[in-house]
Amino acid sequence: MQDTLIDASKIILKSNYLIALTGAGISAESGIPIFRGKDGLWRKYRPEELATLEAFRRNPKLVWEWYSWRINLILGAKPNPAHYALAELEQLGLLKFLITQNVDDLHERAGSKKLVKLHGDILTVICTSCDYRNKISEPPRDIPPKCPRCGGLLRPGVVWFGESIPPDALERAFAEAEKADAILVIGTSGVVMPAGAIPNVVKGHGGYVIEINVNESAITNIADCFCKGKAGEILPKIVELVKSMMGD
Ligand code: APR
Repeated sequence: MQDTLIDASKIILKSNYLIALTGAGISAESGIPIFRGKDGLWRKYRPEELATLEAFRRNPKLVWEWYSWRINLILGAKPNPAHYALAELEQLGLLKFLITQNVDDLHERAGSKKLVKLHGDILTVICTSCDYRNKISEPPRDIPPKCPRCGGLLRPGVVWFGESIPPDALERAFAEAEKADAILVIGTSGVVMPAGAIPNVVKGHGGYVIEINVNESAITNIADCFCKGKAGEILPKIVELVKSMMGD
């Protein structure tokens, strides 16, 4: 394992434009459940009943009960060493941009600044009838919540299955991938598009792909370096190796 960590550190140090793509796995050690796999959320809940516009229209109360549960989980969670390690790589000037599929705010709370949230932000509500939107710091008191401006139904500010990613976020993510000569892919199964295609864009123009995951994923077959293990354990080790090599 140490060899792959050293390989990853060397790729990071040699890179001119390193970016990162993260998924639910980077927040797993903060106690936020992932979606797929043996203990994933989609094992217990059916995404088409909770994470689609149709589900919301059919039963906004049920959908909001589920999102309130997830909001409470996230508000009670803390960034883990993996989030802090990525923020440190940004502060060292090595990580130029972070693309996350996660709707939690753990990257921001760990200090990451240059990032885009491809799948939206669970701590934002959006009105389904007017252009009202707002950040929230606790789950809505009334379920389902109503717009304070027009009385319409408020929805979570996340991208549901079947919905398109906000164009500015999508454009920024792929523009960053076009510039990258290396990408850290952390804690994602890589099966959801278009996020899952981002590592291929970097690979496609000769960039390096470093993957950190406890299991193989849809990305592993294009990874130049596969560090098998928990992000919260591996990423801090990689940052320490990078800092030790920076002195050389
Ligand atoms: N460290 C690193 N990787 C981990 C850890 C960990 N501690 N724990 C789990 N993983 C890995 C799993 O092996 C898996 O490959 O994290 C990945 C999580 O995969 P998913 O649950 O599919 O999450 P993600 O890839 O982020 O899903 C993408 O799908 O459900 C939608 O919108 C949702 O943003 C989400 C998108």
